[in-house]
Amino acid sequence: MKRKPIIAGNWKMFKTVAQSVTTALDLKSRTYNANHCEVLIAPVFTALKTVADRLEGSQIRIAGQNCAAEAAEGAFTGEISAEMLADAGCTHVIIGHSERRQYYNETNALVAKKLVRALTAGLIPILCVGETLAERDAGQAEAVVTSQVLEGTRSLTAPDLFRIVAAYEPVWAIGTGRAATPEIAQSMHRLIRSVVQEKFGSEAAQQLRILYGGSVKPDNIASFMNEADIDGALVGGASLDAETFSKIVFFHNQN
Ligand code: PGA
Repeated sequence: MKRKPIIAGNWKMFKTVAQSVTTALDLKSRTYNANHCEVLIAPVFTALKTVADRLEGSQIRIAGQNCAAEAAEGAFTGEISAEMLADAGCTHVIIGHSERRQYYNETNALVAKKLVRALTAGLIPILCVGETLAERDAGQAEAVVTSQVLEGTRSLTAPDLFRIVAAYEPVWAIGTGRAATPEIAQSMHRLIRSVVQEKFGSEAAQQLRILYGGSVKPDNIASFMNEADIDGALVGGASLDAETFSKIVFFHNQN
């Protein structure tokens, strides 16, 4: 099945509102003709609304980097609901990024709740999974990722799978300059697809887009995109600069 690629930029805790707008507009002018893929950026919360407004009419979509696991509104100091992200102009939200799991103790159970909240709010969640170096060295990579997928999606039904995106991001490859090999990434992506197939059926599995993340750069993106089960990238550091990120968007020109 032909799946439309997604190239997503996760800006993490970088950029002021003004810097976010500058980069977003620069990216817009560089990628206006990128019809071969969906382009997505995830600015910091404080910049979402302004960036979304300034990008109105462009094909670039906006994602939140996280959302509350709680209700649409309530007494949850410091939290931002999925509904509020949608209200600010987001169409997507990153859920369960490894930095959230590592530094903020996000568990698979919490990730499962957030996925439901995102879907309820009409957002497309990007479910992030991936093993640590210690888990890979111990031969547990497959088991860890399998349980992240199964537990993270435990409240979802097969139709929900048509409204989510997955991302495989090995923790040891994030921000380290040490990307996974395309072969390792492909085998993990195939595993994720087979886990989804087993639980939700082959139609859901075949249409699911699974992004690779971890030290993606203009010079390695093409090697990932050549793999059968890699449907795009979730890019951190290399998404902060519009010129560099747009080279990743046009991955087919980067051989
Ligand atoms: P990186 O981050 O591209 O800087 O390795 C990827 C991510 O955290 O999504």
